[in-house]
Amino acid sequence: MKNSKEKKRENWRSMDTQDRTVFNSILKDLKDHPSVLQMKEYKQHGKTTTYDHCMSVARVSYKLDRLLHSKCDKIALLRGAMLHDLFLYDWHDSNSCTDGLHGYHHADKALKNAREIFNIGKKEADIIYSHMWPLNISRIPKRREAWVVCMADKYVSLRETIHRK
Ligand SMILES: [Fe+2]
Ligand SMILES: [Fe+2]
Repeated sequence: MKNSKEKKRENWRSMDTQDRTVFNSILKDLKDHPSVLQMKEYKQHGKTTTYDHCMSVARVSYKLDRLLHSKCDKIALLRGAMLHDLFLYDWHDSNSCTDGLHGYHHADKALKNAREIFNIGKKEADIIYSHMWPLNISRIPKRREAWVVCMADKYVSLRETIHRK
């Protein structure tokens, strides 16, 4: 028998059929795009690929938006979350990341790629640009969508790092 705390925790994490339909329809073209699939070649944290990390951040962003009643633009939220780490290199490899400042610079690389490859709007651009706040201290998220992805990214990154999966 689950107590109310466990039920509540399960509830915020869960996605029903309708949620999954909305989620998959918004990300349908992105999920299978060759440039996005390229993220499967790179590890993010532990054994998690950058692709799986971005999918997790999109999923958690969707659920956080619901939990916080933040009424985000779901299309911008999910697409920005899916593209937020589209930097397309192995950040563990010193030949790919020569300056050793991946944490500070990868948002710019992801934004450049997202702009060149996809027709992203201002909201998606803001999400990508500010997702590394507070490490990039001056890039305070300006929109609710950017705040939600920024928080979701911290949560997912911590979970991946702790569980090394
Ligand atoms: Fe990132
Ligand atoms: Fe990330």
